[in-house]
Amino acid sequence: MAAVASLVTLLSPVMAASSSSAIVADGSSFSLNGNDVSYRFHVDNSTGDLISDHFGASVSGDIPIEVTGNVNGWVNTIGRVRREFPDQGRGDFRQPAIRIRQSEGYAVSDLRYQSYTVKQGKPDLSGLPATFGTDDEVSTLIVHMYDNFSSVAADLSYSVFPKHNAIVRSANITNQGKGNLTIESLASMSVDFPYENLDMISLRGDWAREAHRERRKIEYGKQGFESATGYSSHLHNPFLAVMDPASTESNGEVWGFSLVYSGSFSVDVEKGSQGITRALVGLNPSQLSWSLGPGESLTSPECVAVYSENGVGGMSRSLHNLYRKNLIKSKFATADRPALLNSWEGLGATFNESTIYQLAKESAALGIKLFVLDDGWFGDKYPRTSDDAGLGDWIPNPERFPDGLSHAVNSITALKAANTSTNLRFGLWFEPEMVNPNSTLYHEHPEWALHAGSYPRTLTRNQLVLNVALPEVQDFIIDAVSNILNSSDISYVKWDNNRGIHETPSPSTDHEYMLGMYRVFDVLTTRFPDVLWEGCASGGGRFDPGVLQYFPQIWTSDDTDAVERITIQMGTSLAYPPSAMGAHLSAVPNQQTGRTLPVDFRGHVAMMGGSFGLELDPSDMPEDDKAALPALIELAEKVNPIILTGDMYRLSLPEESNWPAVLFISEDGNKAVLFYFQINPNINHAIPWIKMQGLDPKATYRVDGNSTYSGSVLMKIGLQFPIATDYGSKVVFLEKQ
Ligand code: GLA
Repeated sequence: MAAVASLVTLLSPVMAASSSSAIVADGSSFSLNGNDVSYRFHVDNSTGDLISDHFGASVSGDIPIEVTGNVNGWVNTIGRVRREFPDQGRGDFRQPAIRIRQSEGYAVSDLRYQSYTVKQGKPDLSGLPATFGTDDEVSTLIVHMYDNFSSVAADLSYSVFPKHNAIVRSANITNQGKGNLTIESLASMSVDFPYENLDMISLRGDWAREAHRERRKIEYGKQGFESATGYSSHLHNPFLAVMDPASTESNGEVWGFSLVYSGSFSVDVEKGSQGITRALVGLNPSQLSWSLGPGESLTSPECVAVYSENGVGGMSRSLHNLYRKNLIKSKFATADRPALLNSWEGLGATFNESTIYQLAKESAALGIKLFVLDDGWFGDKYPRTSDDAGLGDWIPNPERFPDGLSHAVNSITALKAANTSTNLRFGLWFEPEMVNPNSTLYHEHPEWALHAGSYPRTLTRNQLVLNVALPEVQDFIIDAVSNILNSSDISYVKWDNNRGIHETPSPSTDHEYMLGMYRVFDVLTTRFPDVLWEGCASGGGRFDPGVLQYFPQIWTSDDTDAVERITIQMGTSLAYPPSAMGAHLSAVPNQQTGRTLPVDFRGHVAMMGGSFGLELDPSDMPEDDKAALPALIELAEKVNPIILTGDMYRLSLPEESNWPAVLFISEDGNKAVLFYFQINPNINHAIPWIKMQGLDPKATYRVDGNSTYSGSVLMKIGLQFPIATDYGSKVVFLEKQ
């Protein structure tokens, strides 16, 4: 993209930075350097404001100082420049990154640069999930700003991961004055792009329709999206891409922003009167209103910003790599995942010890390695036999497990997975942040449910949300889950969360809840590091980087229809690594859409997720479909290491083509696996060529053990796959010779 302000002036240029060092700073200019990205800003000496110079392709040497032209009219210079951390009330009429209501009542701030610190590595973000790395992987610049009038200090923390072309930013605000003040809005990232013509992409949806990619032109004025549900939500994901209008999946400049947070958030994009485009990503102001007494601080979540010259795909691969290596703490982040069978769509909440044993036995005979018992196993006085009772009472249902849960677990884990000496493992579903009014917990502690005074407590799915901001609620959850995990040989937990937050005692409860929830996640995952934890929130209602810090995988959607899932999984992959996606082969007709798809198609779509599984009762399947399962499980296990650690290329998109296709290339580049689908039949029409990406043009690849072609042929000409019917699919292996 051409620089808008290419005017070279006689004013002194912004300091040249050596790109050999990740951070170059001299107290007036700052330069963060990734392998293929530069991020630069400087201090305006007359105002103390931080002025952005560049976020984009790697550059070296001086940058011409941006010329703003004549200042006429109502918009002063402060409203025309690119600001790093725009505050409110002094003539910048665009949306600020921070709004503070001072104790006197006014909402003006004057944050000026004071000093800076550079650190190797990256400090923790108190109580919040955050990317991490060794001193070799990441460096951090902290810029200290101060408002002399209100005695508010703002520390902006910028970490650069050079290998991933990622800049990570958060802000810490401290009240160093004597009165109380209120933080009314606080964005983690704020970028002013010097471009008038840009597009943006967001991920929108709803329950069972997550992560639909939405690309639109950025217009003058404000546009954006948010979650006000208390969680990151299915409605909008805390992810934004900004791009040159000419950029495509594989070419052109794209900036990706991903908020490491699981609560309500807000993304605001504003093209101001001068044609500069501001993007703000952070906490949702409608649920903040955070009071700071003297000496108190608020730390924002961090926002990851990546830059790619290789289109939307390049942006995604940077995020995938960063998240796999420097966000997910679990030892299973890139470890092979066991093929599992989840009981939900097969049995629902109706089962007993003997029916789940039968299901586990059938699963093991097919080659499944992990049996997951979903909802319905708990509740004594208020048994969970429907969604109307039991949440909060984490005691195995004594009628369903007369000899205790451990008896059932022992008999299931004594089974051997077919053709192996491996014992079947056992996993269990929980929904610990919730309570049904029909539960012992609610009768004992009605005050633990979120509420606003005497306003009615509105139900969703017959349940209320516990106030996880309260330490006693956190401890209750930690103890309840620990007791069950200590009682039996449980090596997997699916942690569900099935409604949004409505009535709260105060707008700040939402963020306090998140801090409490992260404490719970942290304690439990540290205490049980050998458990494979899976996040879930009615499917992908909390598919976000905050959850991924603790849980290496997330159930992507309650929609298990494989055609729908191509769109959902490809959309989710814009920001999140395929390794993090749970994807299951379910029964037909599909429970959500009523559609009947071939078993291979269902299996092939599911194995594009890092955690492959079945979600059905095999004894209800047509014989042919059932007979296909062992080979599909074997294939899923074969591709799994490439899905978990490889680079993903979305070759053609379901929104644009009848032949969606995805290529995964192993980290060492030696193996690749192509997934190719045909949705509608291709009657009496040419067979499309599908072009690979990311291969070595000079190398030779063997295709499915047969013909060999050069990387250049595979990428420039491609391959054809004739498929006779609708809903056809192919999995093709490429091996570098
Ligand atoms: C949610 C989850 C499902 C299943 C049910 C059980 O909808 O997303 O996978 O666990 O709850 O109630």
